[in-house]
Amino acid sequence: MLKPTEKIWHNGKFIPWEDARIHVISHVVSYGSSVFEGIRCYATPSGPAIFRLREHVRRLLDSAKIYRMEIPYTAAVLGDAMCELVRVNKMPACYLRPVVLRGYGEAGVFPGKNPVEVFLACWEWGKYLGEEALAQGVDVCVSSWNRMAPNTLPALAKAGGNYMNSQLIKMEAVANGYNEGIALDIEGYVSEGSGENLFVVRDGRLITPPLGASVLPGITRDTVLRLAQDLGIPTVETIIPREMLYIADEVFFSGTAAEITPIRSVDKIQVGAGRRGPITEALQKEFFAIIEGAKPDRHGWLTAVKELQPA
Ligand SMILES: Cc1ncc(COP(=O)(O)O)c(C=O)c1O
Repeated sequence: MLKPTEKIWHNGKFIPWEDARIHVISHVVSYGSSVFEGIRCYATPSGPAIFRLREHVRRLLDSAKIYRMEIPYTAAVLGDAMCELVRVNKMPACYLRPVVLRGYGEAGVFPGKNPVEVFLACWEWGKYLGEEALAQGVDVCVSSWNRMAPNTLPALAKAGGNYMNSQLIKMEAVANGYNEGIALDIEGYVSEGSGENLFVVRDGRLITPPLGASVLPGITRDTVLRLAQDLGIPTVETIIPREMLYIADEVFFSGTAAEITPIRSVDKIQVGAGRRGPITEALQKEFFAIIEGAKPDRHGWLTAVKELQPA
């Protein structure tokens, strides 16, 4: 169960956690009109640091732009507010959830007169698919649900409504005894998990679906691609047929919540040796060494919360 923190940032002010409320007739409740982010703040030896804050703020603004939502705050203001949020809640590490939503006003679909509200919250959150999953891997299935077709709901936006699709994928997977589901795009090619991007390793090459395969442009996905380049692992962004999941040497998920989680079976077919593979492990090690502050932050991915963002 979610453990409340003290304060939530709402339209420029910190308010008590329990006062961060909206009316049931707010536009977002009926029509799913929100965009949001999920960000991790890690405990490092020099204090809490937010991972890839600038990229998350940029994606939030991109998502809002796609949906014609005007956010009256700059990227710098939002970035500073998130650092301040971690500070006022005295969190050594946490998950941050900025949400931008269309609020109370008119009741029809057209949202022109409904206010755009910005909330920034944070709370403590452990490992999404479990601590053991990071070492042992998870058992997943290919979902009977496809990801959204292009030009229906925009996959590049991290919008509340998209997560109706994610819920169908996740609920079906859990109902059938799996940890997670992998959705195909409407062409039948591999897209992503309900809340994670996906990577396949075959013959030493790292392969991930392109942005055109209805995936969210994951920030951890980008992190993995860059770390792979650093480690000299060849990377390819290309369409992946479903059956590649079964014959891959390694498969893993990437995401803010899931971090880098190995997949040990797909549809009850063992992936590779049925445990975390060497490339997954090397990428995980590099990722954790950077976020835990054990290795230098050579890409400038961590924002110490004690610093303010440059304007
Ligand atoms: C559908 C979906 N795909 C991929 C991801 C991974 O994105 P990121 O690495 O930016 O968290 C997420 C999580 O935010 C997601 O919800």
